[in-house]
Amino acid sequence: MNTCEIRKRYLNYFTNLRGHKKISPASLVLENDSTTLFTSSGMQPLVPYLLGSPHPDGKRLTNSQPCIRTQDINEVGDNRHLTFFEMLGNWSLGDYFKSQQLPFIFEFLVNQEYGLGLDPRRLYVSVFEGNEEVEKDYASIGIWKEIFNSYDIPAEESLTLDIGSANRNARIFAYPASKNWWSRSGPPEQMPIGEIGGPDSEIFYDFGAEFKLHENSKFKDKPCHINCDCGRFIEIGNSVFIQYKKNEVGGLSELPQKNVDFGGGLERLSMVVNNQQDVFMLDLMQRFVRPIEAKYNVTYLSSPKVDTSIRIVADHLRASAMIISSGVTPSNKEAGYVLRRLIRRAVFHASLLHGGHVERGILPDIANLELDDYPIQLKPWNEIKEVLENEVGKFEKTLATGLVKLRKRIYNKQIIDGKFAFDLYQSDGFPFELTEEIAKSESGVIAKDALLVFQKEFKKHREISRTSVAGMFKGGLADQEERTIRLHTVAHLLQSSLRHVLGKHVSQKGQHITGERLRFDFSHQSKLTEDQLKEVEDMINEAINQDLVVTKQEMPKHEAIKQGALGFFLERYPEIVSVYTIGGDANTSANLSAFNSDGWFSKEICNGPHVARTSEIGHVRIKKQEKIGDGVIRLYVTL
Ligand code: SER
Repeated sequence: MNTCEIRKRYLNYFTNLRGHKKISPASLVLENDSTTLFTSSGMQPLVPYLLGSPHPDGKRLTNSQPCIRTQDINEVGDNRHLTFFEMLGNWSLGDYFKSQQLPFIFEFLVNQEYGLGLDPRRLYVSVFEGNEEVEKDYASIGIWKEIFNSYDIPAEESLTLDIGSANRNARIFAYPASKNWWSRSGPPEQMPIGEIGGPDSEIFYDFGAEFKLHENSKFKDKPCHINCDCGRFIEIGNSVFIQYKKNEVGGLSELPQKNVDFGGGLERLSMVVNNQQDVFMLDLMQRFVRPIEAKYNVTYLSSPKVDTSIRIVADHLRASAMIISSGVTPSNKEAGYVLRRLIRRAVFHASLLHGGHVERGILPDIANLELDDYPIQLKPWNEIKEVLENEVGKFEKTLATGLVKLRKRIYNKQIIDGKFAFDLYQSDGFPFELTEEIAKSESGVIAKDALLVFQKEFKKHREISRTSVAGMFKGGLADQEERTIRLHTVAHLLQSSLRHVLGKHVSQKGQHITGERLRFDFSHQSKLTEDQLKEVEDMINEAINQDLVVTKQEMPKHEAIKQGALGFFLERYPEIVSVYTIGGDANTSANLSAFNSDGWFSKEICNGPHVARTSEIGHVRIKKQEKIGDGVIRLYVTL
């Protein structure tokens, strides 16, 4: 069964047979969000609804969410890890709970006609064993027993996790919170106040007791359990019962509604449906593997070294294609930096397959990507390729010289420390992780504190480049600097002030921030008078003096608009937006004339980041104004 068919069957099952509405997935790249760069699970955009806000599409939702897990980048190279994957999801927002979710998903997995037709005897499940606060998930244990029994499979909770010594009817395994609790930040003790989560129940597929481990496998002599990474079992789905919220005193409070958040990796489901333990053998990964084989005249599964490089090139090209299609280009910051890392690591491994050469055109062409029907609007390959080639061009000259430096150091048994890694980054464009990887694979010695020192050097360099005219970090990681964040909040204060002084026709047309200044374009017919300029500047500084609190809230876009939040390029934002409000708490709104009747000074849809209180900004000055077009005025503001 090809992977598109699996995606289609899942969405059809939950829409046609189980009354769910298909919702569009969130954007893969979360721009300007300082906490997460990429969407990494389907529930992320649904948090406000899991908390209780009504969703416009009802209480039963489903979709396939494109995800990137950056923490897995260095794992890629084995037979199952990917950086980009799709997560099939279904949600109950306070509607059905355990007794329906578990039978639904089991039926989908095993039904031959409209499901995936998996053999139910190959499925095993895990549940939460309980802790001081939340009891063991007896409810799920009971439901699982009934489900297995209905397929004539005896099912008991296992007394041991070791599959080798477990009773032959053992199907259900209880694990602690480290395995069977889900929240965006992990087990209960790691959840920040306000974070939601709950116990979960995972489903595992057994590739078979006959599954043999390679004699070099580090798992060879270890006992195997369903959650083990040896390769015999693979987790194919997770039903999270989002029922709790971390409260102010560090405990868990019940949410007003009991939710279900199911997520199943599409590629993993395809692996088990096709009884294929190697994710790179799947149709949608072969679309990358085959051109790689042809380009470098190598054969997949011919030697471990070649396989690792083929897998890395394949995965990283695929992830890069998705990130580029989401509008990102390689840079030294955030999502752009991850993209740069992916491309450069792909180029390095391509060079290994290519006899050590790097040149433009080294990367293979991937045809007919769109046939895999990704839930992402893909750019045509020639556009993706242009971005890739541009980056190859930047790296081709320095990769070779950098490799010589690095190998010389390894050969001389000199330690690879953070300072050296940083120099290699600065002069030859080696992302730290690539230096680390090459050093490791060629038996070089890396200093324990290498990353730490690298980061320190990085910071130090940023301090310098703030004043230098051309530094490679300009407009790069420097954007993260506090000054930039302060100016970002100034942009909100400025827009509000302009609307108070000039009128409600003022709306933002563009903005650009560097460490030095904010450039802000807005709609207005003529240049401002001296008085108007002074009034606007005074109003911003007054708002700063008032030490207003800046708060962030997530809510549906329509709710944000209802509350009067301003938004620039509204159509570019996902259904759930972040809204930043400046002012509005009782203490600070007293004597500023410009506060609106709800008590706040500014409310905007925005991804941040922003200062926590306006007093962090300091004094601002409007430096200059220009009329840049018909009805558009530009202001320059500095700190
Ligand atoms: N949020 C859960 C996960 O990522 C289920 O979708 O596993």
